[in-house]
Amino acid sequence: MQKVKLKHLLAVRWFHWINFPLLFLMIWSGTLIYWAYPIYSLGPLHFFPKWFYSLFNIEQRLAEGMALHFFFMWLFVLNGFAYVTYTVISGEWHFLVPRSRSAFRDAWHVALHDLHLRRDLPPQDKYNAAQQITYTAIILMGAGSLLSGLVIYKPAQLSWLATLFGGYQGARFVHFVLAAGFVLFFVVHVIQVALAGWSKYRSMVMGYDVVNADK
Ligand code: HEM
Repeated sequence: MQKVKLKHLLAVRWFHWINFPLLFLMIWSGTLIYWAYPIYSLGPLHFFPKWFYSLFNIEQRLAEGMALHFFFMWLFVLNGFAYVTYTVISGEWHFLVPRSRSAFRDAWHVALHDLHLRRDLPPQDKYNAAQQITYTAIILMGAGSLLSGLVIYKPAQLSWLATLFGGYQGARFVHFVLAAGFVLFFVVHVIQVALAGWSKYRSMVMGYDVVNADK
């Protein structure tokens, strides 16, 4: 017998889906700003080659990028704070934060299972160990983006915070790496959701999941 069970609380679903367009706008406007001084590259390989700027029409749009970045930053941060606060108060953090000593080993087994290199999965609650580590990391990455962003925004006033990142350029580097990390997370997250099937997506939209009656 199967039954319908609430999986994701309404507020969590709202925070999750509001975050999606906000993150997109932050990355987009950040790319407009990055154009002004694109220092990072891997040897001769540039992250955004010349044709990328022309194709997406992102040349000469620094002021617009800054205006959008500094506006949507407030909404991104407020939504993030509200999500974390709600997750703590509602107790949902118990499912999200990896608490078992074997979390990294379990996450490795989940990865091997996903790659069809291992048959069995370690026991899990709402999220598996790989999800717990990733979802916790994404929150810490959000905090890192905020702090490094503040340093870039007000480097003189927040010089004490800048020292934490090894100075202004260090904060800029961390900010850039975290933005790239968000893009990587997004790609892997969406692929995983697509592979996991319709029910996971539906539960993040509608809230409920269909489970065996004994659960
Ligand atoms: C098209 C975009 C996205 C889709 C389709 C999507 C889908 C989902 C689904 C289906 C789940 C539930 C997984 C499960 O029940 O096992 C989930 C959870 C989650 N997603 Fe996404 N997601 C998207 C974008 C994002 C973005 C941009 C972020 C953050 C940068 C994010 C962060 C999270 C987090 C932290 C959770 C756990 C939420 C909780 O229970 O508190 N997602 N997502």
